[in-house]
Amino acid sequence: MQPSVSQQKWIKRLLFVLALLPLASVVWMGVQDRLGANPIEYITRASGDWTLYFLCMTLAITPLRKLTGQAWLLKLRRMLGLYCFFYACLHFTTFIWFDHFFDLAEMWKDVKKRPFITVGFTAFVLLWPLALTSTNAMMRKLGRRWQTLHRLVYLIAVLAILHFWWMRAGKNNFGEPIIFGSIILLLLGARLAFHWQQARAAARSLAVEASMKEPG
Ligand code: HEM
Repeated sequence: MQPSVSQQKWIKRLLFVLALLPLASVVWMGVQDRLGANPIEYITRASGDWTLYFLCMTLAITPLRKLTGQAWLLKLRRMLGLYCFFYACLHFTTFIWFDHFFDLAEMWKDVKKRPFITVGFTAFVLLWPLALTSTNAMMRKLGRRWQTLHRLVYLIAVLAILHFWWMRAGKNNFGEPIIFGSIILLLLGARLAFHWQQARAAARSLAVEASMKEPG
């Protein structure tokens, strides 16, 4: 059974507010001076983590919708994707502003020292076209090309894990990158499986149609 339209609206509103809690919690802890010895590192990590969580949640919608038959879940996907973009913007802003005060030479030095930043930056750049074309008007305008463009999310997911993995490699701490890498693999695998199933069903119905048209 699907929730009614008004229940769906309430769920969407609730999710909108809940998704702001990570930001509110960092602001609250900042005001109380509880961000630890290195507040910039804390904010960079928290915003990076939440970018990844929202990316996983966005990718989970399609498999969840197919498994449960709850088509309305699609209505949440755009919001989750935009929150992923929002936290990525905060993550990036923390890096260029609070960490480097827009000093390009300093940033370049850091990127050379920690090349995983370039991978994160590539993922961030690729998020832009997805965010900018997320409106209904852009969806209509682009037609089938919209879906092709939004397949970039798979590449973004792979880059996000590579960024995380590489960053933790310096610390020999692979626990979380392995967990999130497995989640992303599972979600991408589920999408591929559904896609394959759909293609097989379409081929089967074409074959049935063709055999019915055969003379005799
Ligand atoms: C889709 C884009 C991105 C995702 C999903 C992402 C995700 C993450 C994650 C999960 C972490 C590790 C947090 C932790 O240890 O708990 C991280 C760390 C980091 N990210 Fe990103 N990131 C992205 C883009 C970027 C960009 C654009 C930059 C800067 C140009 C950047 C710079 C960093 C830095 C410097 C750290 C390390 C912080 C530290 O050593 O304390 N990331 N990111």
